[in-house]
Amino acid sequence: MRISFASTLLLASTASAFTHIHSRPTFSTRIMATSQEELKKLVGYKAVDDYVKSGMVVGLGTGSTAYYAVERVGEKLKSGELKDILAIPTSVRTKEQAESLGIPLVTLDTHSKLDVAIDGADEVDPELNLTKGGGGALFREKIVEVCADKFIVIVDESKLCDGLGPGFPIPVEIVPFCHEHTMRMIGDLPSCKGKCKPVLRLGSAANNKADGDEPAVTDNGNYIVDLHFEEPIKDPMTMGKEIKNVVGVVEHGLFCGMSTAVIIAGSDGISVKEAK
Ligand SMILES: *[C@@H]1O[C@H](CO)[C@@H](O)[C@H](O)[C@H]1NC(C)=O
Repeated sequence: MRISFASTLLLASTASAFTHIHSRPTFSTRIMATSQEELKKLVGYKAVDDYVKSGMVVGLGTGSTAYYAVERVGEKLKSGELKDILAIPTSVRTKEQAESLGIPLVTLDTHSKLDVAIDGADEVDPELNLTKGGGGALFREKIVEVCADKFIVIVDESKLCDGLGPGFPIPVEIVPFCHEHTMRMIGDLPSCKGKCKPVLRLGSAANNKADGDEPAVTDNGNYIVDLHFEEPIKDPMTMGKEIKNVVGVVEHGLFCGMSTAVIIAGSDGISVKEAK
């Protein structure tokens, strides 16, 4: 069912035999009947179709939605619709997926400037500030995405929130050496003290469930502490700066002022919010 829907949509964009789909103002009725997975595919494909052109250096995100953007880049390279793409993956997982699709890869070491980066997010606030890193790739995502001219975020509407924090814990990547001390230093910051509970991520680094007994280890050999907030974070930019200042912190999952546009899949269609 998933596959047949997707191929119908793809055909719809090219084949005139499917103009009855074209004539609808939105795909809403179809989208309502589709699964979460199909929505992820729709926004992942749209991001590539709208923002990736031949000759670009492209940042490839990590996670279940970004997966489809990577898939689309591979597909369009194979068909010849896209040419001369160089891609920079944001995780070992994404690197492996891109390699399996034959997408040519480079690194920031040779290419410090990207034309576009596409990635998912765990939460999006009304000003398009993001929480990222539920999947554990926040450091590589940030080092790559901060170098992109355009940063395109792809989410379903469940990720939209009024304020970052309560809906999704803020991940912070820290070095393992004396991590309990570093966690305490973070918890005592003005933006954090009395407001959040720092929890060391256990088990798999790729999710924030305690699915093991040992500390989760990132692609970079570090640990992650997830900051659980009860109330919305008032000033995510300032909080990010405070956290970044703690010795032992590698990077945090607050992405403020970075998004160019957010493509949102909702029950009544796809919408795009552009940063002001
Ligand atoms: C988004 O981040 C900016 C700083 O980049 C901050 O001024 C603004 O208040 C944030 N938006 C929300 C809704 O928290």
